[in-house]
Amino acid sequence: MRTTDAVWLAPGEPQEIQSDLVSRFQQEYGRAASGTWFAPGRANLNGEHIDFHAGRCLPMALAHGTYVAAAPRTDGQLRLRTLDASLDDGITTVTPDQIGPAAAASGQDVSGHWSHYVSGVLWALRELGRSQPAFAVDADFGADLLVVSTLPIGGGLSSSAALECASILAFLALGTPFGQDNPLQDLNAALTRENRKDLAAACVRAEVEVVGAGTGGLDQTAAMRARPGKVLSLDCRDFSVTPLDIGCILRGYRLIAVDTGEAHRLADGQFGDRRADAEAATRLLGLDRLRDALPEQPRKADVSHVLEEFDRLAEQLETLDGRSVEACRRRLHHALTEMVRSEKLHHLLSGEAYGVRHIASTVGDILTAGHMSMRDDAEVSFDIADLVVETALAQGAEGARLIGGGFGGSVLVLITPAAIPKLTAALERISRRIRLLDVAPSAAAQAL
Ligand code: GLA
Repeated sequence: MRTTDAVWLAPGEPQEIQSDLVSRFQQEYGRAASGTWFAPGRANLNGEHIDFHAGRCLPMALAHGTYVAAAPRTDGQLRLRTLDASLDDGITTVTPDQIGPAAAASGQDVSGHWSHYVSGVLWALRELGRSQPAFAVDADFGADLLVVSTLPIGGGLSSSAALECASILAFLALGTPFGQDNPLQDLNAALTRENRKDLAAACVRAEVEVVGAGTGGLDQTAAMRARPGKVLSLDCRDFSVTPLDIGCILRGYRLIAVDTGEAHRLADGQFGDRRADAEAATRLLGLDRLRDALPEQPRKADVSHVLEEFDRLAEQLETLDGRSVEACRRRLHHALTEMVRSEKLHHLLSGEAYGVRHIASTVGDILTAGHMSMRDDAEVSFDIADLVVETALAQGAEGARLIGGGFGGSVLVLITPAAIPKLTAALERISRRIRLLDVAPSAAAQAL
């Protein structure tokens, strides 16, 4: 019989995980690893499906994440293996001609394979190195990599970005002048904020241009630039970040990610389809980026004005760029209200909203409103996620919402510690595949 503890997915002890991984590396590749790099998964208080519209997101890094042990090669090849049972199919070899967008487009490599995230990142770092000599990757650089993760794969907690960010640090450390000048953990202090921003952008390029997933940069920014104990208020207009304290909330409450056990796949069509609906609405409004439809500090009334304008422009249309006008309007409604919620949270957590009482219950209400919007307007939710949200609220949570891209993944819950045992018991009754992760805002990607 399962105990309640069994539903918790622990982040593990980093040093133990690292030393296990390093001994497995020796067995697997018959030589020693040169180092180990880690990147965290993320949760997001608000700002889903708006990073690619230049909206604001409020992510934080988890203690859970992905570990990569690696050693360099001089034949340009990548040899990769993951210890995750659901993905492991032995060592995958990627030859230099299989790396990059051209190879992906010509179908030379196995479509949809997890190795694309890693080989894509090597390509993107090479690209970055063209304009930044310290990041220039040696021409025949390759590597052996062994990967293990404490994140549920496809759990909406950014396992892909964690893999990308841990891998790019490994390549940076082993294949560039920057890595040679800053060996092992020296890398951590040497990386400036600007470097981290550039590396996150390189990981986005890998995912968009090589993997073919329409990521907007939220996940990679969280993994590469998060701060312990903080929510990162990320303005996707220029990818500037403001670390905000959430100590005020976490003193009396816990944030929990509930992995529903329904894995999503970002590279599949549904995520792109939702994004395309919203982009069609953006074009109809005559805008390059949807965030510009709203003022700096938007309110609900501003949302109504934009929707009125949309209705006026769409009045005679049967379809919008071949898409349903009503669906495009719903995506627009989600994106605009999500932007308003993000700005509200930013001000609340910046302490700029003078006189706000009951901060946790306000954050909770925003979480739940975000879920309703994901369910009814973005239409990216699914039965178990809706049930988890309902259950959490019925058990006294301040708020709960689906996070990540949707169509599978995790629900974020804000709840008092006292209510957690009843919540876990109720969740266990919903599905045996549910797992809980404690969301303790943690540090960004690093050399271990
Ligand atoms: C995925 C994408 C992100 C973001 C979220 C939804 O995680 O990779 O860029 O769009 O979905 O907010």
